[in-house]
Amino acid sequence: MTNLQAPIGVFDSGVGGISTLRTLAQALPKENFIFYGDSKNAPYGEKAANTVIALSQQVVDELRKQQVKAIVIACNTATSAAKPALIAANPDIPLLGIEPALKEAVDAGKKHILVMATPLTLSQPKYLAQRDRFSQQALIQSLPCPGLADLIEGGAAQLPAIERLLASLLRPLSDQPIDAVVLGCTHYPFITELIRQKFAPSTAFYTGYEGVANNLKATLAQAQLLRPESHQQQVRFMSSRNTVSELKLYQQLFDHGIEIAHG
Ligand code: DGL
Repeated sequence: MTNLQAPIGVFDSGVGGISTLRTLAQALPKENFIFYGDSKNAPYGEKAANTVIALSQQVVDELRKQQVKAIVIACNTATSAAKPALIAANPDIPLLGIEPALKEAVDAGKKHILVMATPLTLSQPKYLAQRDRFSQQALIQSLPCPGLADLIEGGAAQLPAIERLLASLLRPLSDQPIDAVVLGCTHYPFITELIRQKFAPSTAFYTGYEGVANNLKATLAQAQLLRPESHQQQVRFMSSRNTVSELKLYQQLFDHGIEIAHG
């Protein structure tokens, strides 16, 4: 029988998933969490789908050694490339993921939506089906951002390079009346303000975090895995690049917010 006191595992290719973890930890204050960042193997978004499946399964194995009671893939790339394979290989544990928040933008009545994500996410059948499903309701433009997650992984030191890359990615869109931007990679919220500056002030931004938090709550409730009693929440960090400085960085990003441009 699963221990209700067991933590929830959350993972990403690197620091990106900490942005998701913050929302999850706030939404489920009675639960403990273990975050695993596969920083040694980041970025995932420019690798082959099979490689991402193998890397994600390694992370799931590490989290399962910690006796987690559920796993959240806080990575759009790993969700789109690996979630079905991970579920098939781990049928005995609830496993959920994050996908670009296109539905939220369409439900809010947005008509010209830009989806920024990794090349792998945007090439996967899961995203293409999602895009086609909403294409009657809004004009949807997909913008692969190769290199962006990797630079963000490098932190504030990479800001000049991040600004240059953003400028070249977004320049061709500067005359378009985009009313919503979906940040379809959990690394990108670290630079929300830099991205926001490139768009009209009324442009809405979507991350999908609330959707994952609601999904996690509902999944745990249905599996009768919610921890009933209040206590001091614990959030622990693990990394494939298992250095003191990496773990300290994770803790700092979790404690103090994630905008590296304001860091
Ligand atoms: N943070 C990840 C995502 O949401 C992956 C970025 C990467 O490793 O390329 O897609």
